Amino acid sequence: MFGNLETLPPDPILGVTAAFRADPDPAKVDLGVGVYRDEAGNTPVPVAVREAERRVLAAQASKTYVGPLGNAEFNERIVELALGGLAATLRERTATIQTVGGCGALRMAAELLHAASPASVVHVSDPTWANHEPLLGNSGIALQRYPYYDPATRGVDFARMLGHIERLPAGAVVLLHGSCHNPTGVDPGPEQWEALAGALERRGVVPFVDLAYQGLGDDLETDVAGLRLLAARLPTLLLAISCSKNFGLYRERTGALAVIAENAATARAIATHQARIGRRMYSMPPDHGAAVAARVLAEPELRRSWQEEIAAMVRRMKALRALLAGRLAARRPDLDFSWLTGQRGMFSLLGLAPAGIRALCAEEHVYVPPDGRINVAGVSDANVDRVADAIVRVLERR
Ligand code: LMR
Repeated sequence: MFGNLETLPPDPILGVTAAFRADPDPAKVDLGVGVYRDEAGNTPVPVAVREAERRVLAAQASKTYVGPLGNAEFNERIVELALGGLAATLRERTATIQTVGGCGALRMAAELLHAASPASVVHVSDPTWANHEPLLGNSGIALQRYPYYDPATRGVDFARMLGHIERLPAGAVVLLHGSCHNPTGVDPGPEQWEALAGALERRGVVPFVDLAYQGLGDDLETDVAGLRLLAARLPTLLLAISCSKNFGLYRERTGALAVIAENAATARAIATHQARIGRRMYSMPPDHGAAVAARVLAEPELRRSWQEEIAAMVRRMKALRALLAGRLAARRPDLDFSWLTGQRGMFSLLGLAPAGIRALCAEEHVYVPPDGRINVAGVSDANVDRVADAIVRVLERR
């Protein structure tokens, strides 16, 4: 039956975790998968999330089914976290389904787009998160890339990005990273978000925002300013939300897909399709993570404590960026590493050639995905010199 199947190569990101775990070198460093780490290298569960879990379990009298759209309170509160006051204004026009993590939200969106408009094309940034194209494309939807990152400036190549959008036909879909672009760490600035909103509006192009890092760039509000601008101006918007990073709920697979439609009747129809797509793939989403996130957002003292913990994560990641940039500059004063501190969130691209990336993993035991992305949160006071030495040693490998 399965004898014709060949063994597949490892996943570009999860395969790095497996390779790291298998390496017996005691000095190995994991800068691969995008999870937050503390100084000891652990990925903590926020105190507020632990307390919310305790409360959820204490109050839970039954584990009967919740339903295909998932936890209604979570859906409402998580969209409110993303959209702020706009969420109430747009409520009638918004169809939200709880999903199996942010990946589930992305895939649900792709399935919905493909069902509604089989000829639509989703345009993704070049480069983008290594799983975007496999995850979305497997639904059958067509994908193309738009220019995004300029390796020479290590910034957004905004003129080319906008030029691409200005040429798109009405009904095309553009996938944007809400904040902390994965893998580059560079986001559009406020004026660029304005220009994007104008171009999408003029062309009738639909924004599809992947919001996996709300709060981890600057803070929970600043990180969604661009998203809110789009939601206020565009008639249709898809929003894929992940609670993995900001709530530390990675393995609980907690997320949501909110679709803002042109009118309330369309939103109601979308909700029925969301439910059917979920039912045909996995039936219903798991409840625990969503119930916990809803408690954190609902209880003022938990929410405050959670926000403080996110702020501490952001301070730490910004400090690690400065630390690594400083150690690299001390070793190579002829090179500019200031881009590291200008970028946001967990990721930056080292800009190494493929041979340098391979050597970093195989010879230096510093593990990164094949695109040379680093997870800044994997750096620590204890390993920063080892990391800087390793990067400098492979810099010139071609
Ligand atoms: C990452 O980019 O490393 C994370 O989003 C984890 C994943 O699923 O790839």
